[in-house]
Amino acid sequence: MALSSSRRYQTPAMSLPPFNHDARTKFTETPNTSWTFGQKIESTESGRKWLEGEEQGWKVINTDEDTSRLYPLMISAIVPRPIAFVSSVSESGVENLATFSWFNMVTHNPPLVSFSCSNTPRVKDTPTNVRNGLGFTINIISEPFAENANATSIDAPPEFDEWTISGLTKVPSIHVKAPRVKESAFSMECEFFQAIDVTHPVSGEITTTLILARVKYIHVRKDVLNERGVVDITKYKPIARLGDISYARIGDAFRLPRPVWEQEKGKIEQALENNEQS
Ligand SMILES: Cc1cc2nc3c(=O)[nH]c(=O)nc-3n(C[C@H](O)[C@H](O)[C@H](O)COP(=O)(O)O)c2cc1C
Repeated sequence: MALSSSRRYQTPAMSLPPFNHDARTKFTETPNTSWTFGQKIESTESGRKWLEGEEQGWKVINTDEDTSRLYPLMISAIVPRPIAFVSSVSESGVENLATFSWFNMVTHNPPLVSFSCSNTPRVKDTPTNVRNGLGFTINIISEPFAENANATSIDAPPEFDEWTISGLTKVPSIHVKAPRVKESAFSMECEFFQAIDVTHPVSGEITTTLILARVKYIHVRKDVLNERGVVDITKYKPIARLGDISYARIGDAFRLPRPVWEQEKGKIEQALENNEQS
């Protein structure tokens, strides 16, 4: 019997270990603490193991010819993605809540974020609502309300308010009509900045709408901030989107300073010289 698409993606819950609520992001050393400029990955055991995978060869996909698997392939490979939990309101006053993982920061100056909405098989309520000028909020989802947020992705008709099934709490915004999510430790009150309707170069169909949002106010819970006033990843517990119906939590983290030319140029010159000689 053919399974419906939602059944097909289901992971048998019985075979999974329970969610570990005590797991916390911790900082570890970097993958190769003795790396120097130009050093190849074959120089470590884990690097050699990684390269062994290449023995199976490469699959090359021409995206004009082989379109059927692009969606599952791309969403499974371009990971992890942050998730915008968007609260908006229609012109007639219907409130709406939905999740969008084609989401990221564009710039801090001015503070802009973007998210992208697929228009097939239907134009979604969120891109329609955010264009109405009433403003909207983008909230970040933390582990304790993953199920609540996921429920709002239901393909309900426009007159349905997803807040009613979410179990989440509305807090009035100070600048925009749409409320923010109280359970979210980081929320942005946004104004519509720009929409780019993406026209397919072959079919001419407007398949997708990219929304640019101007962040006017940020609400951040003080308990997730560190002494430098930035978000402490060990307390924030954000979830990310992976392929198909998978989500991820943030596991171990490591810190690597961005190299500064003035400090590193001696080492770089030396490394290049060594490479030439070998
Ligand atoms: C975690 C997650 C991420 C999603 N990301 C996107 C996305 O980036 N773009 C999109 O068009 N739909 C995305 N969806 C599907 C929408 O949430 C879904 O179509 C929703 O019903 C849209 O609601 P609306 O019509 O009220 O705007 C995602 C769903 C989930 C569960």
